[in-house]
Amino acid sequence: MAEQKTICIAGATGLAGAYAVREALRRGHNVHATARDINRAHRLYEFPGAAGRLRLFEAHAERPESFAAPLVGADAVILACFPTPRSGRDGRAIAELEPGRAWRDVVAPAKIACREILQIAARTDVAAAVLCSSTASAAPVPPPPVLNELRDVSSLADQRAAGKYMQAQKTAMEQAAQEAADRGGIRLTILLSSMMVAPALLPWHLEGHVLSFLAGLVRGIPGWHQQVPDGAMSLTSPEDLAGCALQACETAQVVGRYFTLSDSWTWARIYQEIAHYVPQSALPVTNGAAPKLPTVYDFSRRDSLGVAFTPIDEMLRRFFASVPTPSGETSPQRVSAE
Ligand SMILES: NC(=O)c1ccc[n+]([C@@H]2O[C@H](COP(=O)([O-])OP(=O)(O)OC[C@H]3O[C@@H](n4cnc5c(N)ncnc54)[C@H](OP(=O)(O)O)[C@@H]3O)[C@@H](O)[C@H]2O)c1
Repeated sequence: MAEQKTICIAGATGLAGAYAVREALRRGHNVHATARDINRAHRLYEFPGAAGRLRLFEAHAERPESFAAPLVGADAVILACFPTPRSGRDGRAIAELEPGRAWRDVVAPAKIACREILQIAARTDVAAAVLCSSTASAAPVPPPPVLNELRDVSSLADQRAAGKYMQAQKTAMEQAAQEAADRGGIRLTILLSSMMVAPALLPWHLEGHVLSFLAGLVRGIPGWHQQVPDGAMSLTSPEDLAGCALQACETAQVVGRYFTLSDSWTWARIYQEIAHYVPQSALPVTNGAAPKLPTVYDFSRRDSLGVAFTPIDEMLRRFFASVPTPSGETSPQRVSAE
């Protein structure tokens, strides 16, 4: 077992954050967990090991100084508090915002907060930081045949010009984090995840996430696709992501960008697998078009972390096993024949 550390986990009530808190406690570390609503965060005390080793702190990204208290005494910080916003400050969908407004509301706040939190981390002698980011920052145009996370970095200027502000947020926050880490002497690891699927650890993980769509399918509620998309999607288990984040906190050699996803499947294949667990009526229709090929990744850096990544079919099995069926039971079995 690694030496006991104190790990600050920012965004501890989120999907990635809660899995990281659970894994950090399982590995014997002390956890300083930040949340905007401490009352809600009390649910984290249900994790084994929380009594005596978990402390809750209120912190808001809009007020980076609020992270000073949880960072004091921490050996490492895991930043999982920058979810991609779906709308601007006035509630309009990002696609409806003027470019300047979209940049100010979506990209700039995460960039500034990321930089300032890491500046505070440097001031409080935090040695290592882990930024939970996204494969959106590893999507150059045109895409190479095989993606490599060190070589293939999205162009912030291109993302901005194309109006891809949600993706630009990830690229910009990573740049800001890297600059602050370099200046402050912090070892920074950036973990690039894609669509996260796993059992909800806290009730609100089934609200507003992709998980809410997937859970709805079980009840016969069509999800977010009318038609099976012809593209592909990569999937991450937040449990695997937590394993990678903790490896990064514990291991001095882990530094830089790492893919943290299991694989890329066509949506056709994903829905074929989902069809085993949900009624046919909830599924999107197929249009018969040949699907585009899945993304191919160079997983050599990912695999160097020593984390066993969950296969996508197993990820979906575990998720659907955790969702109550309309009759109130959970259904670990596939509901339709092969
Ligand atoms: N979920 C996915 O499918 C997915 C896919 C790819 C990449 N990622 C990346 O993984 C990271 C974590 O995502 P997630 O899905 O775990 O997010 P999430 O479940 O929405 O959780 C976000 C966490 O951040 C906190 N938070 C939000 N706004 C904050 C603010 N202004 N100040 C302080 N804390 C704030 C939330 O706290 P409250 O409880 O106070 O709201 C919550 O704990 C993000 O960078 C995301 O882009 C996620």
